[in-house]
Amino acid sequence: MINKPKILPIHIYGDKILRSKSEKVITIDKNLKQFIEDFIATMYQWGGVGLSAPQVGVTKRIIVIDPQRKNNPKKYSPLVMINPVIEESSGETETEEGCISIPGIYAKVVRPSNITVSYKDLQNKQHRITLSGYPAVIVQHECDHLDGILFIDHLNTIAKLEIRNKLKEL
Ligand code: CO
Repeated sequence: MINKPKILPIHIYGDKILRSKSEKVITIDKNLKQFIEDFIATMYQWGGVGLSAPQVGVTKRIIVIDPQRKNNPKKYSPLVMINPVIEESSGETETEEGCISIPGIYAKVVRPSNITVSYKDLQNKQHRITLSGYPAVIVQHECDHLDGILFIDHLNTIAKLEIRNKLKEL
């Protein structure tokens, strides 16, 4: 039985866990399913369109995204990806990104605009999907977290300087 989800604490910029490499999920058991319920609830609590497990202090390769939240905040359609792997990418797009772990900082990031990503769902079933535009950007942002990479790492020197003082405050 899954208990009522609880909101997990978010780890903020400066916390070492955000720089660590997360481990592959081996077994999808009851405890993991409960964690994922909490994890999804936590993303919505913070108004996010995506979240990665290390942001809530769990170094496992799990992300959740809900790209349509941006335009349709009343609808909930979370997509959980376990052990996601970006297998192919192409194109280029520039998007203003932010991160629940780096509050108050937004910057334009250039990334591939199309990706093919494979992942497992909660039923241990393997999927392979192609995404374009905003959903593709979110998946890349969240997958980066699993390798300790933050969106600010993608900025050029000038953009990094512009946000440097704000980062110090965090
Ligand atoms: Co983030």
